[in-house]
Amino acid sequence: MSALTESPAWQALGKHFQAISGLHMRELFAADPGRSDVMSIEACDILLDYSKNRVTPTTLKLLIDLALQAGLPDRIEAMFNGEKINVTENRAVLHTALRNRANTPVIVDGEDVMPKVNSVLERMGNFCNAVRNGDWLGYTGQPITDIVNIGIGGSDLGPLMVCEALKAFGHPRLNMHFVSNVDGAQIVDTLRKCHTATTLFVIESKTFTTSETLTNAHTARDWFLRSARYESTIAKHFVAVSTNAKAVAEFGIDTNNMFEFWNWVGGRYSLWSAIGLPIALYLGRQHFLDLLAGAHEMDQHFRHTPLERNMPVMMALLGIWYVNFFGAASHVITPYNQSLHRLPAYMQQLDMESNGKSTDMNGHAVDYQTSPIIWGETGINGQHAYFQMLHQGTQLSPIDFIASIENPSTLPRHHTILLANFFAQAEAFMRGKTEAEARGELLAAGIEGEQAERLLPHKIFGGNRPSNTLLLGQLDPTTLGALIALYEHKIFCQGVIWNVNSFDQWGVELGKQLAKQIQAELDIAAPTQSHDSSTNRLINFYKQRARN
Ligand code: F6P
Repeated sequence: MSALTESPAWQALGKHFQAISGLHMRELFAADPGRSDVMSIEACDILLDYSKNRVTPTTLKLLIDLALQAGLPDRIEAMFNGEKINVTENRAVLHTALRNRANTPVIVDGEDVMPKVNSVLERMGNFCNAVRNGDWLGYTGQPITDIVNIGIGGSDLGPLMVCEALKAFGHPRLNMHFVSNVDGAQIVDTLRKCHTATTLFVIESKTFTTSETLTNAHTARDWFLRSARYESTIAKHFVAVSTNAKAVAEFGIDTNNMFEFWNWVGGRYSLWSAIGLPIALYLGRQHFLDLLAGAHEMDQHFRHTPLERNMPVMMALLGIWYVNFFGAASHVITPYNQSLHRLPAYMQQLDMESNGKSTDMNGHAVDYQTSPIIWGETGINGQHAYFQMLHQGTQLSPIDFIASIENPSTLPRHHTILLANFFAQAEAFMRGKTEAEARGELLAAGIEGEQAERLLPHKIFGGNRPSNTLLLGQLDPTTLGALIALYEHKIFCQGVIWNVNSFDQWGVELGKQLAKQIQAELDIAAPTQSHDSSTNRLINFYKQRARN
């Protein structure tokens, strides 16, 4: 057994689980009318109500003990203070410095990183103003109308999610496009909508070695030069965001048109850096700063609030309660807000690339589950698709319901219907429908006797399905910044308790290496023999068919 599963706090939670796992939340609510007053936290214009969870005050106390046992407060300080907590890459983890609007010094290797953070922000701001004002002109002298972001993973999902979420604040002249897939269909489709003279390409890659991004970037460059003809025009239409100036220059982008960030920014934590350039271009400098300010406010809450009133900490602990004690394999993110439709995809990378680990910080295999499978869709669409399983299926999957009180993008009547569903679903998952209630409904519908008995088991909802409700004041840059930071910190806390490094991603390497090898094999006619029999056969089948 690992140190974690043998630890007193873990053992105590295990015992407590045996005692309370059969309790129904209906009983807990009935026993304590003030439950949701106690089990809710307000911070950064977000209300978290976590009362619809299968916990008692004792559960919460034992979970806090687990966090204390893991030394969580010290780990939080270590992250904010720039200690090299990403031990497998020997790096600090400082996405919080990127949004440190208080501008207090943050020291890495003896150097305050804030001057360079501020200087890139300044350059980004000037560039964005020029593009948005129409002062930045393309090679024919026209202003930019279309921005194509080329990147993948953290160099795509964050900017895409935020630009979609905050469309209401977007510049009316600018059409945003995001190309991530190396399937040429995506870039072909995108370029069809653009004109070379008025398109700006933002090539985003932390490493500037990612094959999908470089392939798409080369295709974009070829498309552009077919019309623009002269390489000298590239400077007006291609900018890069990267940590790798050498590779940017080799690609042919003037490093004067490069926006820098640093290796202490993880890809999936990078939207606050220059990777946020498409956001700043679309929303404008001030709104980008507001996004940073919202995240900074959540950082302050996270850093300075006692654990039991700390929103990210409580969400992390509740997640652990379900993953490790109830055996929940997945966690649902369900925004009741069309603008947040890419949030589940964003959260998938954030959570699963961070905590999808089975080796602990000491190099030992873990004997407990780590990152749950994150999935979801906008809530309303989910209701008409997978909610059946969540209500009556055999798997327990905790749910995060997310909505905003105000939504500048919607229509009042639509919003009321949306929010009615939002409140109703969380209630339904909690209370379910008892046999007596189901029988009463059948009776009221005139269904009795044998027919009623036959239908009855299908009409019962067990309920007792846990959820968090997150109600934002308004979906605006500040609140969205806080929401994203909330989840970043939740994931960090879980990583601390699971004792995994949330900031590396070695698990993505093997597939990349093999793909490189196979790509070379696909280019030659001779049959491949270097893999297992299945892979050889598939490759050779493909090669034969593709040639004919
Ligand atoms: O392959 C995974 C990954 O390394 C992610 O962590 C990262 O966000 C993405 O690829 C893109 O990487 P880059 O920004 O270096 O192109």
